[in-house]
Amino acid sequence: MKQYILALDQGTTSSRALLFDHKGKVVSMAQQEFKQIYPKNGWVEHDPYDILKSQLDVMYEVIKKSKVNNSQILGIGITNQRETTIVWDKNTGNPVYNAIVWQDTRTSDFCQQLKSDDSFEDYVRESTGLVIDSYFSATKIHWILNNVKGARKGAEAGDLIFGTVDTWLIWNLTNGASHTTDFSNASRSMLFNISELKWDDDLLERFDIPRQMLPDVTHSGFHFGMAQIQGGQIPIMGVAGDQQAALFGQGCFEPGQAKNTYGTGCFLLMNTGEKIQYSKNGLITTIAWGLNGTVEYALEGSIFMAGAAIQWLRDGVKMINSAEETERIAERTKEDSGVYMVPAFSGLGAPYWDMYARGGIFGLTQDTTNDDIIKATLESLAYQTRDILYAMANDSGVKLNSLQVDGGASANNYLMQFQADILNVPVERPKNVESTAQGAAFLAGITSGLWSMADIRKKKALDKIFKPKMDDFTRDYLYTGWHNAIKRCMNWAR
Ligand code: G3P
Repeated sequence: MKQYILALDQGTTSSRALLFDHKGKVVSMAQQEFKQIYPKNGWVEHDPYDILKSQLDVMYEVIKKSKVNNSQILGIGITNQRETTIVWDKNTGNPVYNAIVWQDTRTSDFCQQLKSDDSFEDYVRESTGLVIDSYFSATKIHWILNNVKGARKGAEAGDLIFGTVDTWLIWNLTNGASHTTDFSNASRSMLFNISELKWDDDLLERFDIPRQMLPDVTHSGFHFGMAQIQGGQIPIMGVAGDQQAALFGQGCFEPGQAKNTYGTGCFLLMNTGEKIQYSKNGLITTIAWGLNGTVEYALEGSIFMAGAAIQWLRDGVKMINSAEETERIAERTKEDSGVYMVPAFSGLGAPYWDMYARGGIFGLTQDTTNDDIIKATLESLAYQTRDILYAMANDSGVKLNSLQVDGGASANNYLMQFQADILNVPVERPKNVESTAQGAAFLAGITSGLWSMADIRKKKALDKIFKPKMDDFTRDYLYTGWHNAIKRCMNWAR
């Protein structure tokens, strides 16, 4: 009987399910986008039931079209958009408020107040590895408890529980039997002590969050509970935040190995092994995963807007019909338009950490066309990555000889060539750019006993290497222009 691993990849704009065979090959896949809710400037929400329904729909679709029985699926791996915060009633299963998405900046003023206390900032960094920012879950939970009627009372009475999207899915898949998350997701909450591996009581007190709301935290490779599926049961055997899962999926198991994922945002992570390394250059420290009794860490550069900026071109200003056409458009557009687009729609993440930055388009002249703006938007992904890569090299002392990429926009050849040019480093794209789902499948496959680490190492296959072609003068000239544009966007909404 053939055996399979099912990966559920719950991202910011879509849910996917992928079925992997025993060789680690994708045999079937389904994807569904779901609604983004923007109630006010800078606010971003999801309906938790949209998240759940889209994820279950694609899961059933994949099981149906690949004609496998539940008993052939050895385990489920879950990977998810991180930090996004859901609070629900454990008795009814009903959320008390929409999911507050990681991109949401409603708690910026509160974070700014907290940042004015230097010693608190230092404490947060030391304990959680993070900078104080509305990006992380802590101030989102605080907002729900203080702004949703009855929420604080319900939480104190032990009726309301919190979870990131992984926890919400596990809880629903197990019919409420398991309220659990893994180390990688917990490390994004700004409430979790990453060296002691436990919720930080001082931070819980400071944010006024009852301890009993929080899930149990465990290794990323673990038996998280039995998913109840079509009258049968499948064990959930692996869970990790999507960026850490992609690091695993790309096979970055050794300290110094790094990957960049071009998804809704863009996230560059470097494995630092069992060592916690703090950044001096605006990066954050995060738990990569816990597996086989060992916890590994990573340095991370988080860029908030990447694919989401392309989505804005499509759905917001309607300049394009599909993300794919941006490659052709960028290629036919003149090289030296001088147009820059800074997609700081939700502030700026690493290395700037400016919650009040807002987007801008610069360098317009009368002959500027939509094509110039589309090309500039695409290029903004590459410039932001350069900002991060340099910070990472300074922090780690490791100069990357190549950048491993994955995620949807890594399929864009124009972008990958421009990325190699602006970094002056070769860019390596694997055959399977779905590294996130692959990482979740690997974690579940290892925990189920289907694969060993040695098997996983062998599964890497390269599609293409993009070698830098740009001369130094052009590279420096273009990058200086980017910095001029960034400077003008900072602090805009303050
Ligand atoms: O931290 C946010 C991140 O997990 C979002 O990932 O794949 O939806 O861009 P993605």
